[in-house]
Amino acid sequence: MNQAPFLAPPLALRGVAFDPPLFCAPMAEISHSAFRRLVADFGGAGALFTEMLSAKQLLNEELHHSPWTKRRACEGRVIYQLLVVDTAKLPEILDHLAALAPDGLDLNSSCPAPTIRAMGGGADLFEDATRLRAILRVLRARFAGPLTVKIRLGREEEGWRARLGERLRLLREEGVDGLTLHPRFAGDKLKRAPRHELYAELAAEARLPIIANGDILDPHYVHSRAADFAPAAGLMLGRIAAARPWVFAQWKNPALAVDHAALWQRFCDYVEEDFAAARALGRVKIFTAYFCRNFLFGHNFFTSVQSAPTVAVARERAAKFFAGQPALTRHINLAGI
Ligand SMILES: Cc1cc2nc3c(=O)[nH]c(=O)nc-3n(C[C@H](O)[C@H](O)[C@H](O)COP(=O)(O)O)c2cc1C
Repeated sequence: MNQAPFLAPPLALRGVAFDPPLFCAPMAEISHSAFRRLVADFGGAGALFTEMLSAKQLLNEELHHSPWTKRRACEGRVIYQLLVVDTAKLPEILDHLAALAPDGLDLNSSCPAPTIRAMGGGADLFEDATRLRAILRVLRARFAGPLTVKIRLGREEEGWRARLGERLRLLREEGVDGLTLHPRFAGDKLKRAPRHELYAELAAEARLPIIANGDILDPHYVHSRAADFAPAAGLMLGRIAAARPWVFAQWKNPALAVDHAALWQRFCDYVEEDFAAARALGRVKIFTAYFCRNFLFGHNFFTSVQSAPTVAVARERAAKFFAGQPALTRHINLAGI
């Protein structure tokens, strides 16, 4: 199977090469240091995004120790995604973050979660051109590496297309190097189909590289919509990476075989190494909600882990599940998660 055009060429932003141009998405409560380590064990991604990090909170974080911020050499390139709502203390925050030598910074302008919007972040920031411009100006002035912005299509109201065009111009004017476009409206959640057919016109309008995102499962998915994806400079995969952390490696090696039981236990090892016990169990439960979709009767695995009082108990229950040599699903279904 030929996986071109997405293995080559690498995406170069400000002289930094992302090779291959496959990106592991920012996912709150998933894309922490333990998960990124697991994805990195298999390789195949050009960069791993952190989950959205509250910029103000970073000042209180021990950056080299916190599971939200620390990075290991094995991860390769790491792009830090920031939740920024204003410019207060932003220069100081960026100077602090420089200790981690980010391979890129990404501004979250897409998150539709009501709590984030109420703070003025994510999709709400995208609506506010003045604030967006002011924040980007500081980010650009203080950070010399690749600066990207993750966006949706904006609010689904009359004139959305013109407003989106204005925003794309603003991003270019403020020195943004690339966009991740999840082509759903802010109110769509993950239900309606992403509008991958828009990349060509939006890439031309933005005159910036676009990383395509939304429902991408594997090379087959991309090839089945080859014309839509052709104008994209890269691909970002989210939920499928939580279900199949080896998915990036499969781009080159579709026949890659994994030991699901060993992988799940290793994830627990990594989480217990990086997180305090009180938080570790929650992270294991969240990951399992995605990972269990690999199995025909994965809901049994899911419910037994969800009710586990400790990681040790979750491990015992998982061992029992895997001992039954659970059958794998042929087609993974990520609906509802
Ligand atoms: C649990 C979860 C958490 C997410 N957290 C973030 C986040 O912190 N920042 C962000 O930009 N997008 C976030 N997203 C959106 C994903 O990055 C991605 O755009 C979306 O899941 C669509 O891609 P996919 O179909 O490959 O999963 C999150 C999605 C999920 C499912």
